[in-house]
Amino acid sequence: MVVNGERQEADVWSGESLLFALRERMGLPGSKNACEQGECGSCSVLLDGRLVCSCLVLAAQADGHEVVTVEGLGRDGELHRVQEAFVQAGAVQCGFCTPGLVVAAAELLRQNPDPSEDEIREALSGNLCRCTGYAKIFDAVRMAAAQV
Ligand code: FES
Ligand code: FES
Repeated sequence: MVVNGERQEADVWSGESLLFALRERMGLPGSKNACEQGECGSCSVLLDGRLVCSCLVLAAQADGHEVVTVEGLGRDGELHRVQEAFVQAGAVQCGFCTPGLVVAAAELLRQNPDPSEDEIREALSGNLCRCTGYAKIFDAVRMAAAQV
């Protein structure tokens, strides 16, 4: 598969998740393993441009496909504007939910550069955070949207 623009190969067992392969075989621990049941969104990545929970995708299903993880959002050593906005807004506490939220928010803004409050909440509704109360996270997404 192509991950963050680079061809990657791995031997995986038949039931292995894409999340496990990314973290344990490809050295990409950004995507987090919190629930492993498709409930929390901490493992969110883009698979051929579609937001998925990588814990619910078999690694074998990604064979020949393109994956973008949180590590692949920035360019030339610069943070993606959503990552920068999370820092500026103080939207990170323990950080466990952050990679998934950043990937989901970046994809929202790619599709919809000027989302409404409801559209932001809907787009991030699959990403759970136990620390922040979400206010700073929504601030960060609005901040990133305003930078376009
Ligand atoms: S670890 Fe995949 S949704 Fe929670
Ligand atoms: S910052 Fe801790 S779960 Fe979101």
